[in-house]
Amino acid sequence: MTTAIDPTPTIDETIRGRRTIGAFRPEVPAPELVEASLDLARWAPNHKKTEPWRAYWLGPETARGVVELNSAEIQKKKGSAEAESKRKVWAAIPGWIVVTCVRSNDAFQHEEDYAACCCFVQNLSLALWSRGIGSKWSTGDVTRHPDFFPLVGINPDSERVVGLIMYGYPAVIPEQTRKPLSAFLTRNP
Ligand SMILES: Cc1cc2nc3c(=O)[nH]c(=O)nc-3n(C[C@H](O)[C@H](O)[C@H](O)COP(=O)(O)O)c2cc1C
Repeated sequence: MTTAIDPTPTIDETIRGRRTIGAFRPEVPAPELVEASLDLARWAPNHKKTEPWRAYWLGPETARGVVELNSAEIQKKKGSAEAESKRKVWAAIPGWIVVTCVRSNDAFQHEEDYAACCCFVQNLSLALWSRGIGSKWSTGDVTRHPDFFPLVGINPDSERVVGLIMYGYPAVIPEQTRKPLSAFLTRNP
């Protein structure tokens, strides 16, 4: 377990080393670093050049609203102790971005656009990581709560939430494993 990201990673090191981060240090990353990462993320592949991703970069007021909405829902389902514990953890998260995908009336186009938006999120997390910033891609219940959309300024009829991205400098970088390549790869003649 480590706490610091290699300061000048190669692309291989960035892809292999990136981890989902759940515990952040309190410093807020410089907005320039986050903006540069969002700017890189939009170079994701996208079929028919639909560029279907949208990003909402939450300020402190909106972030507080998300934290409170999430805690209120946990309170209803799991009680006060869990709600308060989650509220504390989420209130300490330095940065928040919501990534959405513009809906398409065509089901296959929507599938392709969602795939492109997932590439956008991965680009974003790798770009952040290469700048020393960790993130977590969350699809927790709060991202589907009816009050989440007006809070963030999303029209759920025209956009679908792809992820709530929490970011900041990692307090802890967890270990992870993957199955070997041979578990996935079929070599055809
Ligand atoms: C579509 C998607 C949704 C995810 N949602 C959550 C989530 O709600 N909460 C969470 O803790 N992690 C979430 N993750 C992160 C995964 O748990 C994480 O990628 C996995 O544990 C592997 O860890 P790594 O990213 O460090 O390799 C999500 C990842 C993806 C791709």
